[in-house]
Amino acid sequence: MIKVAPSILSADFLRLGEDIASISAADYIHYDVMDGVFVPNISFGMSILKAVRSCTDMVIDAHLMITRPLRYVKEFAKAGADIITVHAEADTPDNIAAAIAAIKAEGKKAGLSVKPGTPASAAAPYIADLDLILVMTVEPGFGGQSFMADMMDKVRQIRAMIDAGGYDCELEVDGGINPDTARVCVEAGANVLVAGSSVFGAADRAQRIAQIRG
Ligand code: DX5
Ligand code: ZN
Repeated sequence: MIKVAPSILSADFLRLGEDIASISAADYIHYDVMDGVFVPNISFGMSILKAVRSCTDMVIDAHLMITRPLRYVKEFAKAGADIITVHAEADTPDNIAAAIAAIKAEGKKAGLSVKPGTPASAAAPYIADLDLILVMTVEPGFGGQSFMADMMDKVRQIRAMIDAGGYDCELEVDGGINPDTARVCVEAGANVLVAGSSVFGAADRAQRIAQIRG
């Protein structure tokens, strides 16, 4: 099943409740956390997540673009995230493994994300414990960037790793996704499509979500 995860980084923060209601046709709410260190931008943290949690029953997919995420995964779990994704590049392998274990200890789903310059093999040590792998199709940090089609080899490689091992693991893409690039990602093996500007920039968001789902 193909899932669509609108990123509320592109929402109108003065009307966040209404904007969340406008994407009820989607599957996940993608929640981009940026710390100004791992990426050159700062977004929002646990307190806004609690507010989002209070206004929706949708699955919240938290994408932590923060350094040393082990420090914060428990707080994001308590604030209401359902899926918590950390970056492979954000700490040592031992600490990333510990962050994944801490997410699961909170009863949440654990994801691992890889930046464009990080190979598929970076996911291999953790794959048996992951519920989701997120392949970035832009450099993380900002919405509204252009899709990197050259990431599709990586999507195909990770799809092959997931299928070969029989893992129950979703494969998500994030950055520059619109109805056209969504098709390219699904053909390469992705099943969760994050889209910020394409969804929130559309006059009819339910229709745009349906177009991205394909
Ligand atoms: C980028 C974020 C994305 C971003 C996607 O660092 O992880 O989730 O909001 O925005 P669009 O769909 O506009 O590229
Ligand atoms: Zn994201």
